[in-house]
Amino acid sequence: MSTTVEPSTSTGSSTEDAPLLDVRDLRTYFKTEDGIVRAVDGVSFSVKAGQTLGVVGESGCGKSVTMLSVLSLNTKAGRLALGPEANAGAEMEHYLLASKKHTSLSTGSAHFRGEDLLTASSDRLRAIRGGEIAMIFQDPMTSLNPVHTIGAQLIEAAMLHQDITKGAARQIAIESLDDVGIPRAKQRIDDFPHQFSGGMRQRVMIAMALINEPELLIADEPTTALDVTTQSQILGLIRRLQEERGTAVVMITHDLGVVAEVADEVVVMYAARVVERASVFEVFEQPRHPYTWGLLGSLPRPDAVADRLTQIQGQPPSLLNPPPGCRFAPRCTFSFGRCLEDVPELEGSGAGSHLDACFLTDAQKVEEAQRFVTAAATDESA
Ligand SMILES: Nc1ncnc2c1ncn2[C@@H]1O[C@H](COP(=O)(O)OP(=O)(O)OP(=O)(O)O)[C@@H](O)[C@H]1O
Ligand SMILES: [Mg+2]
Repeated sequence: MSTTVEPSTSTGSSTEDAPLLDVRDLRTYFKTEDGIVRAVDGVSFSVKAGQTLGVVGESGCGKSVTMLSVLSLNTKAGRLALGPEANAGAEMEHYLLASKKHTSLSTGSAHFRGEDLLTASSDRLRAIRGGEIAMIFQDPMTSLNPVHTIGAQLIEAAMLHQDITKGAARQIAIESLDDVGIPRAKQRIDDFPHQFSGGMRQRVMIAMALINEPELLIADEPTTALDVTTQSQILGLIRRLQEERGTAVVMITHDLGVVAEVADEVVVMYAARVVERASVFEVFEQPRHPYTWGLLGSLPRPDAVADRLTQIQGQPPSLLNPPPGCRFAPRCTFSFGRCLEDVPELEGSGAGSHLDACFLTDAQKVEEAQRFVTAAATDESA
């Protein structure tokens, strides 16, 4: 298998504006019995220190795999270094099919403070994961070990990354449970995960993720399984801890309501690609991609506005055999000939950092967004 390691071509400048995490042209493919799943297919985004990036998109669009790939957490994963001229998709498939060792392959780069995580050694990755970068996984029960107490797991996490005694780690663990609002933390630290409710387990996951004061927290659907009250408490908690400690957050969610509440910047993913990247204001007030219009139109609302706005019909495509051209075209009410053949690049219309991948003209995007936002505002005031 010719997975090779690229020499680290650091993009990390020392300017204050340099992103904390800078992901470029990330691809992750899986080899399955049914064929190659192109789970992440050319994704680029960045996160600035202290900011929150919302990653949003329908189930199966590649949100979790994107962040798992950044942390090299896919099983039996290899890394393929490709030159700039390479046909990345075809080469990925070729090497993956030929490999006896790997069932998944990633390519691209993910610079964290200038260091490419995709080429980092396993030792370096172990030091970074849970230390400088922490992740709250989508299913808390799979990340909490049922046979160990909450305390044992928190203490282990702290001692792995901090040079402290067990007694000091226990004290930090109690404080961290306190921080996330677990009542009687001193006693409850010796409970097992099953003695906690779902919302409390989610809090424990947050405590575990924050125990080493990471610079970046990746939270994968941290509130999906929770009732709305607990959800809003957890989001408030993440926001408060972020304000107090200046932690940057990547918030993965299929819920635009959550994005509106917590994000500074937003990445909208569709079928393994990014279709729009913008500030949270731009996404809600000047959305440019028809898929984003569809997502906004599907937001549950007490009024009738959702019926009047663009709703997305049909299902996302299979990532085993995605359609050529724009992957959203088969569901898009605005699509025309070219959309079915050519792949639209993610690009901006002017000087700003608002990017979208759509062949509609600038005027069409502005006009439709205007109609969209006006309709929402009219219904809100009705
Ligand atoms: N280990 C794997 N092997 C094969 N395919 C996988 C694997 N993990 C994920 N996939 C596929 O990759 C695609 C992206 O999955 P991913 O979990 O990133 O979606 P998601 O956007 O996080 O969805 P959700 O909102 O449901 O969590 C899906 O088609 C999924 O079936
Ligand atoms: Mg997911």
